[in-house]
Amino acid sequence: MSSTDGRGGRLIIFASPEARKDALWWALAALSVPVAGAAVWWLSENTINRLAPREYQYRPGTVSEYISELFAKHAKRRRRTKPLRVYLDGCFDVMHYGHANALRQARMLGDQLVVGLISDDEIRAAKGPPVMNYAERKSLVGSVKWVDEVIDDAPYLLSEDFLHELFTKHKIDYVVHGDDPCLLPDGTDAYAYAKQQGRFKMIKRTEGVSSTDIVGRMLMCTRDNARFREERRELTKQFSSGERRVSLEELENGDGGSVAGSPRPPAHTIISRFMPTSRRIVQFSDGVPAPPGARIVYIDGGFDLFHPGHVEILKLARAQGDFLLVGLHTDDDIMERRGAHLPIMDLHERALSVLACCYVNEVIIGAPLEVTEDLLTTFNISLVVRGTVSETGAADNADHPRYMVPKQRDIMRTLRSPRDITTATIIHRIVSNRAAYEARNAKKNKSEAAYYQSKQHVTEM
Ligand SMILES: *[C@@H]1O[C@H](CO)[C@@H](O)[C@H](O)[C@H]1NC(C)=O
Ligand SMILES: *[C@@H]1O[C@H](CO)[C@@H](O)[C@H](O)[C@H]1NC(C)=O
Repeated sequence: MSSTDGRGGRLIIFASPEARKDALWWALAALSVPVAGAAVWWLSENTINRLAPREYQYRPGTVSEYISELFAKHAKRRRRTKPLRVYLDGCFDVMHYGHANALRQARMLGDQLVVGLISDDEIRAAKGPPVMNYAERKSLVGSVKWVDEVIDDAPYLLSEDFLHELFTKHKIDYVVHGDDPCLLPDGTDAYAYAKQQGRFKMIKRTEGVSSTDIVGRMLMCTRDNARFREERRELTKQFSSGERRVSLEELENGDGGSVAGSPRPPAHTIISRFMPTSRRIVQFSDGVPAPPGARIVYIDGGFDLFHPGHVEILKLARAQGDFLLVGLHTDDDIMERRGAHLPIMDLHERALSVLACCYVNEVIIGAPLEVTEDLLTTFNISLVVRGTVSETGAADNADHPRYMVPKQRDIMRTLRSPRDITTATIIHRIVSNRAAYEARNAKKNKSEAAYYQSKQHVTEM
């Protein structure tokens, strides 16, 4: 390389071969510093994670302030490059919006939600017979829009080894659990190890519903259903703040209405403590309108006790277009058509369950029974679908007068339901095994009561 200076003389740079060689070496030396640095950084991250004892491995928010400050940047970087993975386990038997809300909260704590699903055998041993089998539970939990992965056959009792496997093999950052205590048989906290590792996060349990409560509703609904239904409605109205619960005995003796001022602790949850808030609906909604030009598919029904049959038909329905709109019938309509003991879940509860399903884009809360011209126009519906399996059987297929308008317009389609399970199937399972479920509920009843007695405020995500 050379150039001429202003005075005509030649300024020579790196003219000799030795000088050029020197420059090359210097350049290489300068380059090796960042390369070596990167190698050391990469090695340390990997060796620390592989060889160091558990307590020195990567964990968010380390004990010692000095170390945590030192590693803060590293942790931040890691979080940016790798998704934060959160784990929540459960039985998810008789899945309801309380489960969905727990999954939603867990998902908010990270980027990916991994669910550990407990096997049928473990549920049977720990609680009594499950209402839904493994495949059904997996179909339900896997369809919730906040779930990214399901780990099969998670243990009911969390061992330290299993937690360690979660942290290493499944790359879980945080283990999540509700604010009710979870104890091992020896009385120790099941999450002690995760807590000690700084990898435990608590979420707010959703009040007003539990599987125990829903099983209780099903057991009740077959006893003296019409009268029970009427009373339940009355009481729900009366205590719509949701703060009161009424015991089984009180209802059965028909004096449910006289307990308003009584401070007696409730024996069994019947009146749902569900407090429908507008925020909950917002949390569960996508809030995204159908994109312009989208093909909107409409399906209506009760969707009571949201089950795998619903999931499968919604999946099929969604595949017919770009946007799935679900019309939910009112409680009164369902009661009139299917009997006074139904629905088990009220309109708001059903809306939340349906909204939590990943195939659903929007829900009409209280849709008309009849699919009218007005409905089709308002929502720009391109196709109305109906499954072959329904609660009321053949009496309610696509030829029913309430589908007359879409039929005339030739936008009515019948989809073959992949499963023949219905809400009645599930109620039947519980009622036909009444003794076992009553025992199961009585057992659970105690821990439920203990929770409500000792509960404290936990902020929801
Ligand atoms: C209504 O739906 C049709 C598809 O069936 C679509 O072509 C049209 O753009 C939609 N209208 C609006 C206003 O989105
Ligand atoms: C629930 O537990 C209470 C005691 O905590 C008991 O008195 C009541 O009978 C139980 N109810 C049922 C339905 O088992």
